[in-house]
Amino acid sequence: MVKPVVLRSREDLRAWCNNVRASHESVGFVPTMGALHAGHRSLAQASLARGLVTVASIFVNPSQFGPNEDFDRYPRDLDADLASLALEGVAAVFAPSVEEMYPAGDSTTVSVRNLTTPFCGRFRPGHFDGVTTVVARLFAIVGPCAAFFGKKDYQQVAVIRRMTTDLALPVEVVACATVRDPDGLAMSSRNRYLAPEARHRALSLARGLHAASAAYARGERDADVLRGLAHSEVASAMDRIDYVELGDADSLAPLAGQMLTKPAVLAIAAYLGTTRLIDNVVLGVDASPLGGA
Ligand code: PAJ
Repeated sequence: MVKPVVLRSREDLRAWCNNVRASHESVGFVPTMGALHAGHRSLAQASLARGLVTVASIFVNPSQFGPNEDFDRYPRDLDADLASLALEGVAAVFAPSVEEMYPAGDSTTVSVRNLTTPFCGRFRPGHFDGVTTVVARLFAIVGPCAAFFGKKDYQQVAVIRRMTTDLALPVEVVACATVRDPDGLAMSSRNRYLAPEARHRALSLARGLHAASAAYARGERDADVLRGLAHSEVASAMDRIDYVELGDADSLAPLAGQMLTKPAVLAIAAYLGTTRLIDNVVLGVDASPLGGA
């Protein structure tokens, strides 16, 4: 098992990626905030399966956390992360400091309109600006590559795809399926905050998505009925709900008071204590998170 080379500076990452391309190979890029689990590893696997020389970034990005969010207590374990990426065959890891990503005098924000308005955009002001600002910088340093993101963060990958197109960045954005625990819970670095009883209640997200998926498979198309099925599962188990909402799978425009005629994303964000969990399913495209219909 070869440990990935750890790069700390923009210059080193750029040189490393240029070197890969100079040897007539292509770069696969997996951006993360660390505390890696099988969901992150699946992104590295997707990159490696394409024969790409793969670099992951590990950077807990302060600009995407709100003032009352969990930046300070976000789990950090670089050694464990390096060991798990080594097992996958990731060649390099970019682990910059905050100063390296946000140098003194930093004054530039990348902001995507429209797609950032619904869902998490309503509850986490500035969050997506933080994501697009850091991802644009990472893409600029890495250069031409395929970059791998999880559909677990459905809105995030839609926003990044939009940014990449609009800024003509030389990056292919690849969206990968959500990886779940065997019982259906979507894997998340934040799941490690959950005590066993809370983890059990967290399953209500997958159950809610399943209830709507199963009804959709039986022919139900009423947006309010589908949303209501998911909402009642989540409301009975979680401490607080940010949203249970349906939106157009491409534009994310809210769908309510109408019948669905094309794929729609049903997305949930809800809290157990101070832990915020999200999950989603694209009705008409994805299998139910609990399998079956
Ligand atoms: P992070 O939450 O660490 O997630 C890194 C990548 O892993 C994202 O693309 C996310 O969608 C994907 N991911 C997380 N859980 C997953 C799961 N269960 N199945 C499949 N993929 C999963 O998302 C971020 O970091 C940050 O916002 C980042 C893009 C790195 C910018 O800071």
